[in-house]
Amino acid sequence: MKPHITIVIKPTLFCNIDCKHCYHEPSERIKGNISLDRVEKLIRMASEEYQTAWFIWHGGEPLTLPMSFYKEAIGMEERYFGKDSMRYGNTINTNGTLLNRRLMAYCREKKINVGVSYEGPYNSILREEDVEKTLKTLSAKENMYSVSAAVSKDTATKQKEIYEYFRDKDITVSLSPVIPAGCGKCYVPDTEEFIQGSIDAFDEWMYDNTSRVPLMPHYLYIQNYLGNPVPSDCAHTSCLTKWICMYPDGSLYPCAKACPKEFCLGNIDDISSIADAFKSEGFRNIIAGSIKRREKCAYCEIYDFCNGGCSVDACYENGLEENGGQSCVAYKRIFAHVASEIQHILDEKPDMDRYNPFIKEAVIGKLINPKNV
Ligand SMILES: C[S@@+](CC[C@H](N)C(=O)[O-])C[C@H]1O[C@@H](n2cnc3c(N)ncnc32)[C@H](O)[C@@H]1O
Repeated sequence: MKPHITIVIKPTLFCNIDCKHCYHEPSERIKGNISLDRVEKLIRMASEEYQTAWFIWHGGEPLTLPMSFYKEAIGMEERYFGKDSMRYGNTINTNGTLLNRRLMAYCREKKINVGVSYEGPYNSILREEDVEKTLKTLSAKENMYSVSAAVSKDTATKQKEIYEYFRDKDITVSLSPVIPAGCGKCYVPDTEEFIQGSIDAFDEWMYDNTSRVPLMPHYLYIQNYLGNPVPSDCAHTSCLTKWICMYPDGSLYPCAKACPKEFCLGNIDDISSIADAFKSEGFRNIIAGSIKRREKCAYCEIYDFCNGGCSVDACYENGLEENGGQSCVAYKRIFAHVASEIQHILDEKPDMDRYNPFIKEAVIGKLINPKNV
């Protein structure tokens, strides 16, 4: 059996709020739900081929489907992987507008992570509905949840403020730039502004010794620099063959982001194992192009940390085979800043009480046992 796979299921591409920057074109965001037969087949195959699987319910807006759908699907995971076997887990990625107390209670009972897409004080730039009250309830009820904030051209310089907003509520936030796919093209942040905004947020968090939340993805960059690459930083961990995404019509793709059709890995209805999907022409297309790009990246000083970056981002920037796009330039500069700050701490061994508890723990772990981290 292979060790682990992340499985993204888009049970519908329909969305109740149509965020302005969505990488799915409006023509794709149509009504129609996935069949439970398709869901069952994918869960069964995953349980037969992988020791563990993490399911991410995505879309479209996954909570436009009724709770009964999730009860069936989680029941299937329990049957195929073994209830409480620790072989599977779930995240629901949602805009939060349809979360209610019953659903929250169900997520707590089944230990389902809730990932809410929300930009806090700048939410209205990309989304019409505000979910501040819902977040309060999630916190009060002790659900496992975090927030993902899309950084647009209007918020590139406001990342520190967005971090502070969520820090004050003890909510973990991940800041990710809008990519130039679908409707996102009109909202992409200026690269220089994004880099500076990201560094400003990091610096604020780094010296925020009362912070109780990690700042993402910067915290993952620290782990990576200290020698502990983290698969959840999907853009920089060579994700191909480790992620698969199923659409409502059963078509399969290598990534949760909207992918061009030439990367389609076939249809769940036509394969008898997940391995079959990774033998498809679509997979050959993305892997061949990614290898060409990575060959060009191999000379870069940070290649060992970025693994050539995200193929889907590259595809929408300079093309799959080319590096040097916005995401590449931004990662290089932001990672270099994070790495130099951490190296400074390792070299100078300053008073660690100046730093936030996450940096403190990561660096002290490395200093105490350099080989262990
Ligand atoms: C497509 S939505 C689907 C799941 C759910 N409706 C939600 O809002 O989380 C998943 C995530 O993709 C992000 N997203 C959509 N289009 C994007 C783009 N062009 N660039 C970057 N992120 C994007 C959204 O902000 C959201 O966090």
